[in-house]
Amino acid sequence: MRRGSIAWLLGIGVVSGGVAAAVALALPWLPVDASREAGRIDFVFWFVVTICIVIFAVVAAAIIYSVVRFRAAPDDDSDGPPIHGNTRLEIAWTLIPTILVTAIGIVSAIVLSRNDALAKNALRVDVVAQQFTWTFKYPSGLTSATLALPKGRETQLRFTSLDVIHAFFVPEFRENEDIVPGLTTTINVTPTRVGTYPVICNELCGLGHATMRSTAVVMQPAAFDTWLKGQSKAVASPNTATAGAAIFKNNGCAACHTLTAAGASGKVGPDLDKLPAEAKQAGQPLAPFIQTSITDPNAYIQPGYPKNVMPQTFGKAFSKQQLDALVSYLISSSKGK
Ligand code: CUA
Repeated sequence: MRRGSIAWLLGIGVVSGGVAAAVALALPWLPVDASREAGRIDFVFWFVVTICIVIFAVVAAAIIYSVVRFRAAPDDDSDGPPIHGNTRLEIAWTLIPTILVTAIGIVSAIVLSRNDALAKNALRVDVVAQQFTWTFKYPSGLTSATLALPKGRETQLRFTSLDVIHAFFVPEFRENEDIVPGLTTTINVTPTRVGTYPVICNELCGLGHATMRSTAVVMQPAAFDTWLKGQSKAVASPNTATAGAAIFKNNGCAACHTLTAAGASGKVGPDLDKLPAEAKQAGQPLAPFIQTSITDPNAYIQPGYPKNVMPQTFGKAFSKQQLDALVSYLISSSKGK
């Protein structure tokens, strides 16, 4: 090959690689990374992207050079020269991809095993997924509808599903995990950035899939301890208004229902400000109507709302005391509306 041709090939390759690198670096493709695991996963991502940019530059240079240099004249109908294989070229294009793919495999394996290594002082949170809500259970027995996490401490999330396949995804943590009925799956998260991030169900799981969202709140360790204590105290409060409000909040009710007293404006399920009118419509006294609607939601369906959307597990999840507190909270909150 002439020296001039090599210079052209190199030039086109450098320009195409530069353009591709600029597109990769200038645009904000990824959300902030908020965990140690995310940093490692991003490393694999950029490792692969760098390889891709180099390959893109080589291919672009070969194509652009060939299109210009070997362009046929408009009246040239002749066949090209007969070529039968090129052993050296074939060895090269087998060997180079093999080395690259093996390297990606090794880097990925190291990152995965590091992300899977669990620290001794890890916090364990059980995550229960069900159509269409998340419940986060802490070692103290506290349940919460939002995932509060202390910054800097490794947390193991253990997933179980009560019904169908869901998937847990927090883009800022970069990790996605399927939640399969009958299996317990896990991921580890070591938050590095205080903030509020979306928890998304990433597997089509039914009518309310798009509403199956929560938030992950990363706090300073001291703030996390305060939160944990405050929540536990509120749920166990002898004051039914305080306990009821905490139970309403911690079990994700606000995601689907409107209740002005709780600042909730969900539209998936019936409007809880109108409970007295709805009980009248159902022909039942208010208190037993509310209780049955929580423990056996399909017993009566408010016209205009679908069946089987409200989780049917709250009857088992709540103690008698918690249920009573929630019912009386809903009665007092909806009265006079
Ligand atoms: Cu749960 Cu989609």
